[in-house]
Amino acid sequence: IPPLKQPGRKLNSLVRRYPHLAREIWYYEMEIKQFNHSIYPNLPNTTMVGYDGISPGPTIIVPKGTESIVRFVNNSPRKNSVHLHGSFSRAPFDGFAEDTTDPGQYKDYYFPNQQNGRTIWYHDHAVHITAENAYMGQAGMYIIKDPAEDALNLPSGYGVYDIPLVLTAKRYNPDGSLYSTIGEQISLYGDVIHVNGQPWPIFDVEPRKYRFRILNAAVSRSFSLYLVDLAEENRPIRFQVIGSDSGLLEKPVWTPNLYLSMAERYEIILDFTNYTSSPSTVLELRNFRKAGGAGVEEEYAHTNQIMRLRVIPPKPSSSPDTSVIPSHLRDIPYPDPTTNPGFPGRQNKTIHHHFKFHRANGTWLINNTPFSDIQNRVLAKPPRGTVEIWELENTTDGWSHPIHIHLVDFRVLHRSGTHFFDSAPRNVQPYERFGLKDVVWLGKEEKVWVEAHYAPWDGVYMFHCHNLVHEDDDMMGVFNVTGLID
Ligand code: C2O
Ligand code: CU
Repeated sequence: IPPLKQPGRKLNSLVRRYPHLAREIWYYEMEIKQFNHSIYPNLPNTTMVGYDGISPGPTIIVPKGTESIVRFVNNSPRKNSVHLHGSFSRAPFDGFAEDTTDPGQYKDYYFPNQQNGRTIWYHDHAVHITAENAYMGQAGMYIIKDPAEDALNLPSGYGVYDIPLVLTAKRYNPDGSLYSTIGEQISLYGDVIHVNGQPWPIFDVEPRKYRFRILNAAVSRSFSLYLVDLAEENRPIRFQVIGSDSGLLEKPVWTPNLYLSMAERYEIILDFTNYTSSPSTVLELRNFRKAGGAGVEEEYAHTNQIMRLRVIPPKPSSSPDTSVIPSHLRDIPYPDPTTNPGFPGRQNKTIHHHFKFHRANGTWLINNTPFSDIQNRVLAKPPRGTVEIWELENTTDGWSHPIHIHLVDFRVLHRSGTHFFDSAPRNVQPYERFGLKDVVWLGKEEKVWVEAHYAPWDGVYMFHCHNLVHEDDDMMGVFNVTGLID
């Protein structure tokens, strides 16, 4: 379990002159540095680069409404830029790809934390080296804690009954170093599946309910997760999804499996109450999605396995499980196009922008434009306060792309695939539909419509494919939220 990062608390320096502005800001300092980690006891250590010298980095938990400042000190060998993925940060603190911090320097990032409770994450975003930096270990979880959520009495206690699961996939050389194909291949799948930095771990659970916050922090590998009971001939077990990228869903959704592309977060409830703890019931979290993409014919061994959950007797110190999973979790603030001020054409369910994700001349592109084309890369200018529908279209044959839009939470309205992986249904999945997202899986030859409220700030933000090799290889565009009209 990634350790919790403790804040040093600081009062705003304005307080002396403007006492009515007095408020507490939580201040953190994180050092990005190289470290050696023993992954395989019989191999030499692996050199990695991570926040505070661990990977995943420490988890930050801040209460909703309490602002934070995080000083990221770059003591690593490469430049970096830090993005808090899922936060509606002001543009200067959003980790713009070219806003890099050189080795030996630091940058203070300010985060408003005004959003509802949600599982977000911080990771590198440095132009053209994001895949490498993330692969080396630069990613960590950040949780906004919401009293409205606490009032529901879901399973709680970070690292106790509320468990982060950060998934990655890596490959190793015989000398223990990380093996990378970045620069040679157009994806990096990895054959060793890690959860919280540990290959294929076993996690002991008590016979009670748990909340798991699952994040796919892999460079290129997407998953389709399902759960089986090993003692019962791998009987599949359905589970409840209660949250996604932007926090709790409207209501819990039962599902037999869960698509999880890069950067997506889903929160699930597993209830072990009725499993025997002696002998231990062992459940296995599995993956049926194969490494995808043109030219990838074979899959590595064991990538169908993620981790095991072993039911053990409750510890004498454990409190009884009084948690509940209510049938209604929260009201979702779905974007409402009728609130668009002064733009009659913007109130309808019409498509405001069409973005084609494709590949040409050895580069990944959005509407023929690579991110490096600074003259043309601003692809949309939504007036601040408006609701827009964007049509995302994937015309690359053989690839899917998880598309992330910074700053906003969007609703996934519609999906129209001609060819979806793993013969999954092509419609919007219930766990996508009953909440808001900031990443959407765009399958092979699919179109997806997403609707978002472009607020609350003006500024220049990125949107891109979250296959980090594609992102670095220029499948990234810019939108500029312009002029106050609300
Ligand atoms: Cu998770 Cu633009 O990033
Ligand atoms: Cu992509």
